[in-house]
Amino acid sequence: MVVAVDGTSGSGKSSTCRGVAQRLGLAYLDTGAQYRAMTWWMLEHGVDVHDADAVAARAGEPDLVSGTDPAGPTITVDGTDVSAPIRGEAVNGAVSPVATVPAVRARLVDLQRETIAAALGGRGIVVEGRDIGSTVAPDAPVKVYLTADPSARARRRALEEGGSDAAAVEASLRNRDQIDSGRATSPLTITDGAVQVDSTDLTLDEVIGLVSGLVVSAATGS
Ligand code: DC
Repeated sequence: MVVAVDGTSGSGKSSTCRGVAQRLGLAYLDTGAQYRAMTWWMLEHGVDVHDADAVAARAGEPDLVSGTDPAGPTITVDGTDVSAPIRGEAVNGAVSPVATVPAVRARLVDLQRETIAAALGGRGIVVEGRDIGSTVAPDAPVKVYLTADPSARARRRALEEGGSDAAAVEASLRNRDQIDSGRATSPLTITDGAVQVDSTDLTLDEVIGLVSGLVVSAATGS
């Protein structure tokens, strides 16, 4: 079973996907964390993230490893755990331009497909991102497009980030949405066959219940 979950920043994708994976005994892959880890590495190595050629030239270098336990997902770059720094302001501001570079996307999509193939030896995997249903796993039997209105998303992100200013967070989210949806390679779109879920007025438990229901129906053919 592959469950492809795409959607906007702050739509509750991570909490939803981890919850569904835990409930159904599936593995979990956060592809956004991989784009963030790639960006962290570029910043650490002094690469100008707005120079697409410079980013492309070094996209093959970092060794990224994602742990797929939904109870405690991890990500390391060259052996260093970067789970905390990839959520910081520096990476927030630099990740969208890095994610537009085709060489970065090609490298990470390969890595993602390897992880998905490995998980299919077990019960399967919930994969979250922007291009999972369209590009990474177009044959996934369950595809979900998760969103919420921008002010609800900003309020949630501001809370997650320990009380940051919601207005500033909303501006930064809208900016990332625009870059993610407008880029040439694998833009964020609602792919054919995706079930659209708007979480604005739903609790996390309700969204997890809804998505888990879709997975169980697909698995049992009901
Ligand atoms: O989901 P997130 O906010 O952690 O994603 C970080 C950035 O990575 C965001 O700008 C979109 C980009 N991304 C992407 O382009 N493709 C993916 N599959 C996942 C994330």
